[in-house]
Amino acid sequence: MDDLQIGVVGVRGRGFLATYAHKPGQGSRIVACCDIAEEARPVARERFGGDVFFTSDLKELLARDIDGIFITTPDSLHEEMAIAALEAGKPVYLEKPMAITTAGCDRILATAARTKTKLYVGHNMRHMPFVVKMRELIQDGAIGEVKTIWCRHFVGHGGDFYFKKRHAERKFSTGLLLQKAAHDIDIIHWLGGGYAQIVNALGGLTLYGDISEPLPKQNAEGELTWPPQSQTGLNPRMDVEDLSMLQMRLENGVFATYQQCHYTPDYWRNYTVIGTHGRIENFGNVEEDARICLWNKRCDWKLFGDAQFPIERPEGGHGGADPRIVDEFLRYVREGGTTQTSPLAARYSVATGCAATDSLRDGGTLRHISPVTPEIATYFG
Ligand SMILES: NC(=O)c1ccc[n+]([C@@H]2O[C@H](COP(=O)([O-])OP(=O)(O)OC[C@H]3O[C@@H](n4cnc5c(N)ncnc54)[C@H](O)[C@@H]3O)[C@@H](O)[C@H]2O)c1
Repeated sequence: MDDLQIGVVGVRGRGFLATYAHKPGQGSRIVACCDIAEEARPVARERFGGDVFFTSDLKELLARDIDGIFITTPDSLHEEMAIAALEAGKPVYLEKPMAITTAGCDRILATAARTKTKLYVGHNMRHMPFVVKMRELIQDGAIGEVKTIWCRHFVGHGGDFYFKKRHAERKFSTGLLLQKAAHDIDIIHWLGGGYAQIVNALGGLTLYGDISEPLPKQNAEGELTWPPQSQTGLNPRMDVEDLSMLQMRLENGVFATYQQCHYTPDYWRNYTVIGTHGRIENFGNVEEDARICLWNKRCDWKLFGDAQFPIERPEGGHGGADPRIVDEFLRYVREGGTTQTSPLAARYSVATGCAATDSLRDGGTLRHISPVTPEIATYFG
């Protein structure tokens, strides 16, 4: 089997993902890189060898004989870069969120359908062991028919990660109810078995906007900042929210909520799914003692429920999800077939995040999620 020849645009940061595809002699290798930062050149050489092609011009990368491309650049570049790669007939791994507008996603889907080029969107949470286990329990009937899903997202270090650079500005991200929540909206859709039809949301910039005289830090030099009011170096413009609460009704009648806070001391996600015969909830995501608990007998308070399920801990980023999602993409490029992730679902997570953000900025008014055209639904369905 010859190695797939793969390119990557956006080498640093999330571009690390491409290292999982660099397995010379074992099916795939990174042969070409594109990045506007000159500092990315030595990074590419160190990871992929001195002979790796490097350019700052995406057109030059796309003109090469490559079998696929990772697009791991900032969100606001996804639409333009994905469309260029699809037009060039190169199978695409596109990082989440698919784009920062619903219309942008629809243009990407239309281009993939018209050019019949493979499109894969990097919703790696669908490969996270705790999510996979929750889905398996649901599918095995452990809680009966799903009726509601509640997700609490504690974004510890939110100030360090999301309020010091571009994520803090609408023009680059739309908002964090899209940038961060795109993952969880996708998982809620996946676990709930349908896409959101109506949504509303409330929230605001409730802490980072108020820091004029930072408090003394309690963390050591080089560590992430605590308490959040001790933040310095925040982005000069902050027009996104640090707290948001979203409610959704899915097309199949399942109700869901998602809450996101960017100044919690802890950093993890907690989901509970309630069905007609019980409830499951995760405690922890990737930690050694993380577990899924199941309650299916009547009780008052029972900390870990009636049954507990450990969470697998494979090697690799995001609880082992990153090598798995790269493997799935490479298999899809080589053989086609079905995948755990879905471009259509990726589009609906963006559409829901955008509609929720509109609602939040308009006093919590109800928003309807616009559907894709029947042709697109059929093509990607
Ligand atoms: N799925 C996940 O778990 C996960 C985790 C982190 C980030 N992400 C996503 O990955 C993407 C990248 O995020 P990041 O934090 O790594 O961004 P980043 O700012 O670190 O940029 C990544 C790389 O893109 C390069 N780049 C920027 N503009 C470019 C251009 N015009 N042409 C070529 N290269 C360019 C940068 O120089 C850098 O090397 C985002 O869409 C983000 O949402 C996903």
